[in-house]
Amino acid sequence: MSQEIENHDNHNDSGNRPFSSVMARYLSRRRMLQGSLGLAAATLFTDFGLSAALRQASAEPRRRLTLGFESLPGSMTDAIVVPEGYTAQILVPWGTPLDGSAADWQQDMHLTPAFQARAMGMHHDGMYHFPLDTQHASRDFLLAINHEYIDQSALWAPQGGPTNNDEGARPADEVRTEINAHGMAVVRLRRDDQGHWAPVADDAHNRRVTSATPMELAGPVRGTSWAVTAWSPEGTHVRGTNNNCASGYTPWGTYLTCEENWPEVFINRGKLTPDQARLGINGERGRYSWESAEDGEQGEFSRFDNTPHGDDPAKDYRNEARGFGYIVEIDPYDADSIIYKRTALGRFRHEGCWPGRVVEGMPLTFYTGHDSRNEYIYKFVTTKIWQQSDANRPGEAYDRQAIGTSYLDEGTLYVARFDADGEGEWLPLTVDAIIPQGEHKGRRLGEVFENQAGIIINTCDAADLMGATPMDRPEWGTVDPHSGIVYMTLTNNSKRTEAERPASFTGEGDDVFTVGSGYATAPVNAANPRPDNTYGHVIRWQERHDDPTRMRWEPFVFGSSASDADSNLSGLTDVNAFASPDGLWFDERDDGEGILWIETDNGLDKGRENAVAEMTNDQVLAVVPGAMSDDGQPAINAQNQAQLKRFAIGPNEAEVTGIFATPDRTALFINIQHPANWPAANTENATQTAQGQVRPRSSTVVIQKRDGGRIGV
Ligand code: FEO
Ligand code: CA
Ligand code: CA
Repeated sequence: MSQEIENHDNHNDSGNRPFSSVMARYLSRRRMLQGSLGLAAATLFTDFGLSAALRQASAEPRRRLTLGFESLPGSMTDAIVVPEGYTAQILVPWGTPLDGSAADWQQDMHLTPAFQARAMGMHHDGMYHFPLDTQHASRDFLLAINHEYIDQSALWAPQGGPTNNDEGARPADEVRTEINAHGMAVVRLRRDDQGHWAPVADDAHNRRVTSATPMELAGPVRGTSWAVTAWSPEGTHVRGTNNNCASGYTPWGTYLTCEENWPEVFINRGKLTPDQARLGINGERGRYSWESAEDGEQGEFSRFDNTPHGDDPAKDYRNEARGFGYIVEIDPYDADSIIYKRTALGRFRHEGCWPGRVVEGMPLTFYTGHDSRNEYIYKFVTTKIWQQSDANRPGEAYDRQAIGTSYLDEGTLYVARFDADGEGEWLPLTVDAIIPQGEHKGRRLGEVFENQAGIIINTCDAADLMGATPMDRPEWGTVDPHSGIVYMTLTNNSKRTEAERPASFTGEGDDVFTVGSGYATAPVNAANPRPDNTYGHVIRWQERHDDPTRMRWEPFVFGSSASDADSNLSGLTDVNAFASPDGLWFDERDDGEGILWIETDNGLDKGRENAVAEMTNDQVLAVVPGAMSDDGQPAINAQNQAQLKRFAIGPNEAEVTGIFATPDRTALFINIQHPANWPAANTENATQTAQGQVRPRSSTVVIQKRDGGRIGV
């Protein structure tokens, strides 16, 4: 996302030990181990309890793929850059009509609610592909894609900007248009024999879901008093999904869209509830002042104002925001299907949701992270074990949401604690979980939060109590489907200082969870020797196969400028330096090998505020990951630089996000979000520089080789 809508203020007052200090202990422990390497390493693997087969898979490096392109030097233009021999085609930019009867996009057109409700929304982000049949999966599929937020200056460019954004009442139709520019879309894409891609207008699968589309709550929060509103006195329904950032998918063929920076569209002029304070709902006017418009039917706009009126929650919208902050499941194959918010997977600022390794007869796991400073990483483990008979049957019409209900509404939500010795523990967020520390020590979570719905509504507070490790803004994750190794980006954290601990922190064994001070900062250490984590990093972990509560983890790569010796812990050079890793996708290739793709979001719309931003726009990197090591070094370091290459670079001010490739790996799809002056008019060539100032449009871009070969190799 742009820094325009970010709010990564530290709402976490828990006092749990920050990740950076864990990292310091981890690396110093690793240095000790290096002194007696053979014995120590053997002990680690044995302690970890891996089966012989898994131990072998972890310890033996795979045969290495070779990246078959020249790493790109930095670029700062109003165009996309790809390696020699590749093309980049613009596809389905904001405003592309999804039915043939709609007017075509015009650079100076005035948008209406009706047009925007049937056209691509703004700010493309997470996305995934769903084949209509297996045989043509690489040339004909449904694209499910998020529209994370809006650029009001581009949206209202013909009239010089939005009306009454800061005071007075917003015009209702402007608000409806903005609401309809959010959400997600399903659009069928097809490639012709010349390698040209195009949307299929009027396809029956094409769909827009907006921040007003009715949908249902599912899981623990459904039908509870937490979710009662004037529009849904039973607490079962909610209107809209909002600020859908990254995404995920299920093995049964549904799309998961994830609600991230939604709190700021809501306000409460009265006393904040604990969950409102924790997640950042407050103030007199929402992000776009939607609540100020003259109300339509059934609280169309007043629902964004969560201020209580009287005693009855069924007569106001005090609980409206408790219908947001979820993983939302959509069946892309049925444009009329009911959409469910799967509350069992927690409520916070979800970046995305990624399935773990899928194994017949084992539960499924979904990983998810909370993108705010010093927030947490979670996983959800299904109660139901995976049955291959539930796997997606592409293109067939049947009730995928019934299958979703059987897996996603019952299971255990865990939050991660990363320990200094390279092991980690998953802490259950259940009514019977015993709080291990602090003023509630010895109590059950159910005693503090009433019931499982209360735990979900207050997910991050429950995570505080259980002793989770605060992280440097978890963004995307991805899983190597062969090894099950999970990767997650920690994009940056400006609230890191040299202070070892905040003054109010009272020490080991005395963690306090109700004090208002917590740690607004995190300590520097050998792994992050900078007073703030400007550049971000990527970690990875592997689950212990016989215990869902244990894993081992290691640092994977540290972002840095090549010239900043203190920060450059992965030995990066000018052709692969990066900052603020965000998007991730593990691209499995032959024999279990793969390419990890990393996308960056370096906040360039705020200016070029760090050394990487001064030399390049945001980018896509390819890395051949190698096996887990335990050798005390980040997996990517000065000895293996050829494994990490800069593959593509976006236009000025844009972040690069949303990523997958076709099954045959000949077409890589990415999204360009919030460009300053791109794409160029009257061309589908993403590498062409705009002439003069254009009305910028976020867009999907498909990258292919001119010879039709596989991407990256
Ligand atoms: Fe929408 Fe955390 O990125
Ligand atoms: Ca992101
Ligand atoms: Ca980001």
